[in-house]
Amino acid sequence: MRILNFGSLNIDNVYRVDHINAPGETQTAAERHVNPGGKGLNQSIALARAGAEVWHAGRIGADGIWLRDLLVKNGVHTDFVEETDDSTGHAIIQVDSSGQNSIVLYAGANRRIDEAMVDAVLTHFAAGDILLLQNEISCIPYIVDRAYDKGLRIVLNPSPFDGRLAPVRMDKIALFLLNEIEGFQMTGETEPEQILDRMAVLYPAAEVVLTLGEKGAVRQKAGERVYREAYRVLAVDTTAAGDTFTGYYLAMRAQGKMAKEALDIASRAASIAVTRQGAAASIPTKEEVAGS
Ligand code: RIB
Repeated sequence: MRILNFGSLNIDNVYRVDHINAPGETQTAAERHVNPGGKGLNQSIALARAGAEVWHAGRIGADGIWLRDLLVKNGVHTDFVEETDDSTGHAIIQVDSSGQNSIVLYAGANRRIDEAMVDAVLTHFAAGDILLLQNEISCIPYIVDRAYDKGLRIVLNPSPFDGRLAPVRMDKIALFLLNEIEGFQMTGETEPEQILDRMAVLYPAAEVVLTLGEKGAVRQKAGERVYREAYRVLAVDTTAAGDTFTGYYLAMRAQGKMAKEALDIASRAASIAVTRQGAAASIPTKEEVAGS
């Protein structure tokens, strides 16, 4: 079984600030860093560091070749990371003194994924393989339809949630990984239990993992719920904590681990990530997670 992650690659411009800017406010950052990121790239690196065999598909500009090199260095297959004449996607990230962030994205080459590329990539995958998606690239509804037709098991992290997901046939998704904000956007509910109740009505066949930040995570399938408290740590930067969780959870499930153990390992990995600065750079290796 192979994992294909069709996802974004971003250059993260990170500004350390006292607090997240209010509308109309000007604030001077204490530090600036340029880091590798993108929910797609982060999740591929988390999958690979967790021991999964993963193929990343996506598009970059000439300014993003170093992102592809980083994937290679982490053992991710990059046969389907293509260079275009557009600039690489980028993010403007404020990180405040408590480690919380606020992100603005510019899609760039991430929105240059078209049906021809999707068809070409999917010829290399078959029934039983896993497809992982986030919502930072173009063509998601088409990718879901074609992958479903081929019998791939589709995993969706609907982040960031927006109207571009409206045409997606969500009944084709086997596993959703989402946070409370995305849960609200998908169901209209704010309380975790009600989000899960509604997801069970809307998508009864799907496995759902709802992350709750400092309150932990819960997994639902066929009417059963498994809860996992978060590990208590001092957060420095929460960027990519969700990506770390997603990559580790999926890798563990793909390796045959039960949901309870996968939740525990993913929670450990995310708790390490928040103690480190950056996105991809903060994702621990499986040895670090095992030793935690
Ligand atoms: O989830 C964190 C990521 O979101 C950042 O790396 C940024 O690029 C945005 O995609």
